[in-house]
Amino acid sequence: MALLEIKNLTVEFDTPGGVVHAVNDLNYSVEAGETLGVVGESGSGKSVHILALLGLLPCPPGRIVSGEAWFDGRNLMALSDRDLRSIRGGEIGMVFQDPMSSLNPVLTVGRQLKEVLTRHTNLTGRALKARMVELLDIVGIPHPEARLSQYPHEFSGGMRQRVMIAIGMACNPRLLIADEATTALDVTVQAQILDLVRQLKHDFGTTVIWITHDMGVVAELADTIQVMYGGRIMERGPVRPVFHDPRSAYTWGLLNSLPDEGARTQRRLYQIPGSPPDMSNPPPGDPFAPRNPFATERCHREVPPLRDVGNMPGHKVAAWYDLPALLAAQSEKEQTP
Ligand SMILES: Nc1ncnc2c1ncn2[C@@H]1O[C@H](COP(=O)(O)OP(=O)(O)O)[C@@H](O)[C@H]1O
Ligand SMILES: [Mg+2]
Repeated sequence: MALLEIKNLTVEFDTPGGVVHAVNDLNYSVEAGETLGVVGESGSGKSVHILALLGLLPCPPGRIVSGEAWFDGRNLMALSDRDLRSIRGGEIGMVFQDPMSSLNPVLTVGRQLKEVLTRHTNLTGRALKARMVELLDIVGIPHPEARLSQYPHEFSGGMRQRVMIAIGMACNPRLLIADEATTALDVTVQAQILDLVRQLKHDFGTTVIWITHDMGVVAELADTIQVMYGGRIMERGPVRPVFHDPRSAYTWGLLNSLPDEGARTQRRLYQIPGSPPDMSNPPPGDPFAPRNPFATERCHREVPPLRDVGNMPGHKVAAWYDLPALLAAQSEKEQTP
């Protein structure tokens, strides 16, 4: 059963340079217990669509043109600010990039945890304190009891990010949304945080939306991958088929620009040609067409719908071309002398 279902979400920004078409008729759902990895280069609409459904979009300049976001039978887009606020941090936990700006520098970590817990639970007194200690312990912060009385600047970057995850997880959310939560962290700390999220999923069955521009992180964490570009879904499906049999030239480009870990010889990395589209003047058809060497005339003219591919349930692509056939033809040409 879908825990979250986004329907026809379109978000624009009014800017001096014109209307920015940030999110374009976005449709997708997340099943209960699923981990969805959302990837795409910077500017693809990953953050904006999440902010929109959580009621956190700055309006103006932002504008929700249309859309519904059904969470457990309620349309988040139709809720009052007050109702949304009680869902945020409660049933939906959030972890954003840059804990330095998300945590309040003048309040102790304990105070900030307490605030979330008292707003969303009935815990008081000793039970409340115990829960706070437990949360810091769960996210792997040593000496949790002593740490509660410290301020954010007394924590390292990795430890602050753990605090953010503790706050995001504080009320056992049914849905945890993380937006570039490990991007600023070094690889070792990132690996520890990913372990932690896996543990939380295992222990609490939490549904997760993990937004990142890092394909490697998605490979490790997600059940389903969703590739976004130009405020649209280019490809989506279970991680394995999407990684091994990509159908969108954009996904293919992202995968081939990944360094091959453990490879003995250094493979030359593919670089996707061109630059991301100017969303105040988006291309009329497939947004990736201008950068796609395989683009057909139709790609430049008409937006492709997201359709089922192959025989793997849930694998979908928005493309007018047949990527496997094109790649096969290309490698045949390369092999003929
Ligand atoms: N406050 C804003 N004003 C104008 N345009 C914005 C604003 N925030 C985001 N955008 C635009 O919306 C598009 C999607 O951005 P975003 O969702 O942040 O991308 P990302 O996938 O990197 O998270 C981009 O073209 C971005 O420039
Ligand atoms: Mg973002």
